[in-house]
Amino acid sequence: MNWQRVRSWFPVTRELAYLNHAGVAPISTRVEEALRRYAEEASRHGAFRYDAVYDAEIERTRARIATLLGASPDEVAFVKNTTEGLGIVAEGLAWRPGDQVITCDLEYPSNVYPWRELGRFGVETVLLRGSDGRLPLERVEEALRSPRARLLTLSSVEFGSGARNDLETLGDLCRERGVLFCVDAIQSLGCLPLQPEPWGIDFLAADGHKWLLSVEGCGIFYCSRRLLDQVRPRTIGWRSVADNRDFDHYQTELQATAIRFEEGTPNTAGIFALGAAVDLLLEVGIDAIAGRVLALTDRLCEGLPARRARLLSPRTPTEASGIVSFVVEGEPPPQTSARLRQAGIFTVVRRGAVRASPHFYNDEAEIDALLEAL
Ligand SMILES: Cc1ncc(COP(=O)(O)O)c(C=O)c1O
Repeated sequence: MNWQRVRSWFPVTRELAYLNHAGVAPISTRVEEALRRYAEEASRHGAFRYDAVYDAEIERTRARIATLLGASPDEVAFVKNTTEGLGIVAEGLAWRPGDQVITCDLEYPSNVYPWRELGRFGVETVLLRGSDGRLPLERVEEALRSPRARLLTLSSVEFGSGARNDLETLGDLCRERGVLFCVDAIQSLGCLPLQPEPWGIDFLAADGHKWLLSVEGCGIFYCSRRLLDQVRPRTIGWRSVADNRDFDHYQTELQATAIRFEEGTPNTAGIFALGAAVDLLLEVGIDAIAGRVLALTDRLCEGLPARRARLLSPRTPTEASGIVSFVVEGEPPPQTSARLRQAGIFTVVRRGAVRASPHFYNDEAEIDALLEAL
């Protein structure tokens, strides 16, 4: 892969060492062009060519996302963010009093609040305790032994520590126990491989604005086709029903596909952006991207001790991700991050540590600049 060429697609590289893809990513020239294409269409033709241009791009993008996930387009819905996707599952399943949802205290609030809300139906949210930034597998195994365990919901990568959860093993455990498996994939989709069907993942959600390198407010929700009929859409709208172009007859039958979860007009501009972003990721290849991101993050981890910085991210080969969290001895993390920011190096502070999250178009010089600035 010619990484120098890839880098030229990211104008941000001319301004900053942008190491915050776990926060909000910058966009590539490809996504910029797609947004311009949308704006031009909207300004010149409005909805005159809706089917030929907007609908065509919406369905093309859905198919590209399905390719990224090794799924069928019928299993993919557009949502406004990760939280909405998780909420569709939380509010859509038919819960029984006493059911347990298993999650963990390392999770982002989006993967805790929608489940805790189910307390009103007598559903218990079990918050497993993480240790050293990771959730030990034994704790999940033990929790899944409960006959009340109904659903396990975890992030593919923990947003603070960067620990990658072993989704394949977790998916196997869930299948063995007949427990549903939901994944908040926003901290790895676009950066690390992820295949819901073979890995036993039933539901998955991710917004486009982090590792997918798209814009905010347009994400994806995957629902395994086996479970489509077990999740009642929270809102049934004009777009959810079987013939969603017939506005004259009120219908009860739902769309046969995950489109049933898209209750109304989609975020067409966001979908244009997401389509171009996914095209770029597929062109470079997720395996190549993962290899590059892990090499850059390894380089950072290796350089930290010499800068009196303590690495907090688990970095065994199965746990490493695009997120590296660290603390400089004797310096509060906000101060370190502010100092880096002054040097044009963008990191943030999460869970009491400086969090750096490079993507594939970053380079060794930027990692070395961060280490130098420390
Ligand atoms: C693991 C994780 N889940 C969810 C979110 C929020 O996602 P959204 O704003 O797309 O709902 C974040 C944002 O930082 C996150 O890190």
